[in-house]
Amino acid sequence: MQKNKFYISTPIYYPSGKPHMGHAYSSIIADVIARFKRLEKYDVFFLTGTDEHGLKIQREAEKNNKNPKLFCDELSTKFKELTKILNLSNNDFIRTTEKRHHDSVQEIWNRLLKSGDIYLDKYSGWYSVSDEAFYDEDEIEDKNGKKISKSSGSLVEWVEEESYFFKLSTWSNKLLEFYKKNPNFILPVSRKNEVIRFVEKGLKDLSISRTSFTWGIPVPKDKKHVIYVWLDALTNYISALNFPNIEDKKYKDFWPADVHIIGKDILRFHAVFWPAFLLAAKLPLPKRVFGHGWILSDDKKMSKSLGNILDPIEIIEKYGIDQLRYYLVKEVSLGNDGSISLENLKNCINNDLANNYGNLCQRVFSFIKKNCNNKIPSSTKLNDADKKLLNNLKNSLPKLISLMNNQDLNEYIKTVVNFSFEANKYFNDSEPWAVKKKDTKRMNTIIF
Ligand code: ME8
Ligand code: MG
Repeated sequence: MQKNKFYISTPIYYPSGKPHMGHAYSSIIADVIARFKRLEKYDVFFLTGTDEHGLKIQREAEKNNKNPKLFCDELSTKFKELTKILNLSNNDFIRTTEKRHHDSVQEIWNRLLKSGDIYLDKYSGWYSVSDEAFYDEDEIEDKNGKKISKSSGSLVEWVEEESYFFKLSTWSNKLLEFYKKNPNFILPVSRKNEVIRFVEKGLKDLSISRTSFTWGIPVPKDKKHVIYVWLDALTNYISALNFPNIEDKKYKDFWPADVHIIGKDILRFHAVFWPAFLLAAKLPLPKRVFGHGWILSDDKKMSKSLGNILDPIEIIEKYGIDQLRYYLVKEVSLGNDGSISLENLKNCINNDLANNYGNLCQRVFSFIKKNCNNKIPSSTKLNDADKKLLNNLKNSLPKLISLMNNQDLNEYIKTVVNFSFEANKYFNDSEPWAVKKKDTKRMNTIIF
C-alpha cells in the first residue's frame, strides 16, 4: 500500500552569522510536526538548509576578508551542526550554492521567461540589504537622519540599475482567488488578513535581477545579471525534490508541500511572491504557509543586528535539548510573539517537567521497583476511576491529532500535560501503598 506523504520545511537561513534561538525555534516547531506525522505513519520529507547568495552574504564575507563560498562553507556547517544538536529529524539539508539548486533556479527563470512574465527595465528605489527586500516610499521612514524600513527597522539604500522584472502586477486577482479558495493557505488567520490587504492594494512588478554585484546565480543567457536572492531562495523547496525533473519520484511524491514553517518577517515572500512565481511557472502551489511570531528577548526581536541573542547551544549544554524544545513549544504561543528568559525556562522545567511529569514517573517507577518486581503488573477489574482515566486519554486522541494538523502546538501540549496532572492525581487518590497489604490485585491494577 502507498503511504501518505507529508512535506514540511523550515526557512533556509542566511549563514551571515552563527545560528541563534530564532532559527532554532522554527526548526524545532517543524521537527515536532514532522515527528508527529511519522507517528501517524506518514512518509515525511522534512527539509531545512542555508540561503547563501545575495548582497548581504557577499558584504558579510568581504567584511571577514573571505571568499563568499568559503565564508558560506564555514557558517553553513554551523547550521548543519545545529540540526544535530537540536536533534532534528530532517531528511535533507539544502545549500543554495549546490549544483542541484543552480539548475532548478535557472529552469524556473526559463519558465517565467517563456510564459512572458519577465521583461528588462531599470530599477530605481529603496533596498534593504539586511532584509534583501525592495521597499516603497510609504514603507520607509526617517530615523536619526537615516532611512529605515518601517516593518523591520533595517537600513535601506537607494538603488538604480538595469534589472529584469517579474510581472507580479498581473497576478493580484489570481492570488486573491487562490486565498479565497484555500482559506487555510495562510495561517494564523490574523496574518492572512494582513497579506490579503497588501495584495488588494495592487501589486507592483518585482525586480528579480541585480547587476551591481556578482554573488548569485547568473541569469541564463545574460551573465551581467544575477537572479534576485529571493527568487533563488524560494526555489529551494523544489530543488530538494529534484526539480526540474518533474517525473522524479521525489517531486511527484512530495510536491506540493504540506506546510512551509516560517517567521512572520518573511510572510510576504512566501504567501505572495512564491505562489505568484509558481503560478507563472505553471507549477502547483504549496498547501500552507504558517508564519509564526518572533522570539523576543527584553521585548525586542532577537536578532543579530540588535545583539540580544540567547545562544541555543549554551542553553542546551546547561539545561538539555528536550527541556529547551519543551519550553519553546509550550511557552511561546505559536503565531504570536513571545518573550523567553532563563528564569521562565527554569520555572517551566521545574514545574512541568520535574514536579509534574518527573514526579509521576519517579513515584510510579519506584513503586514498581519496590513492589512489583520491577515489571508492569497486569490489571484485573477496572473501577470507575480507572475507566475515567483511560477514557480521558483515549478520547483525547482525535482532538490531539486535529490540534497538531492545525499547528496548534500550545493547546496540544497543554492537553498532554493535563493528562500527566490527572495521572498524578489518580495515583494519589488511588493510594496503591494503602491497598498493598489487603488487595494485591487492586494494587496491580492501579499500577497497570
Ligand atoms: O530570512 N524569532 O533568513 P534568516 C523567531 N534566508 N524566529 C526567528 C527569529 C526570531 N527572533 N529570528 C529568525 C531569511 N527567526 C531567508 C529565508 S526562505 C526561502 C529564505 C527565524 O536567516 C524565522 O523563521 O533571516 C525567520 O523567518 C527566519 O528565521 C529568518 O531567517
Ligand atoms: Mg532575517
